[in-house]
Amino acid sequence: MTDPKAERTFLAVKPDGVQRGLVGDIIKRFEQRGYKLVAGKLMWAPKDLLMNHYKDLSDKPFYKGLVEYMASGPVFAMVWEGKEVVKMGRKMLGATNPLQSEPGTIRGDYCIDVGRNICHGSDAVETAQREIALWFKDEELCDYEFADKKWVY
Ligand code: TYD
Repeated sequence: MTDPKAERTFLAVKPDGVQRGLVGDIIKRFEQRGYKLVAGKLMWAPKDLLMNHYKDLSDKPFYKGLVEYMASGPVFAMVWEGKEVVKMGRKMLGATNPLQSEPGTIRGDYCIDVGRNICHGSDAVETAQREIALWFKDEELCDYEFADKKWVY
């Protein structure tokens, strides 16, 4: 991607976030910040997709439980676009460890358990590309312009 404003990240509201009614709040935070929603869908992810998504963690003791939790109900998968959205998305999510996730962040406002932490966000641009390709078909990504783009950038 040549336009740095067109950086993309993959976000997913996890089953606990969906069932606690937090999808709208999470979308709202990214909309208000000025990011563009490029794709979104509610899906009950198959285990092989989740195992692939978290394959870098397959040797961790929490891997099996993580996949089971992610497969326990539908997740809301999204692609967001905008300037430095990968890093900013991580900042808006808050730290993985609940003791370090600051109030004001999504995790800092809504969770106390690392194993029930509401939302996933890609941790690097390359990871985002891999995750977007894993969760979405090309034709599910919407290519459009913000009418009031000049106010955000
Ligand atoms: P990780 O990729 O380290 O964190 P993040 O989601 O912030 O990128 O871990 C993936 C998920 O694994 C994390 O969101 C929650 C879960 N997890 C645990 O259940 N226990 C743990 O000790 C860690 C580090 C993560």
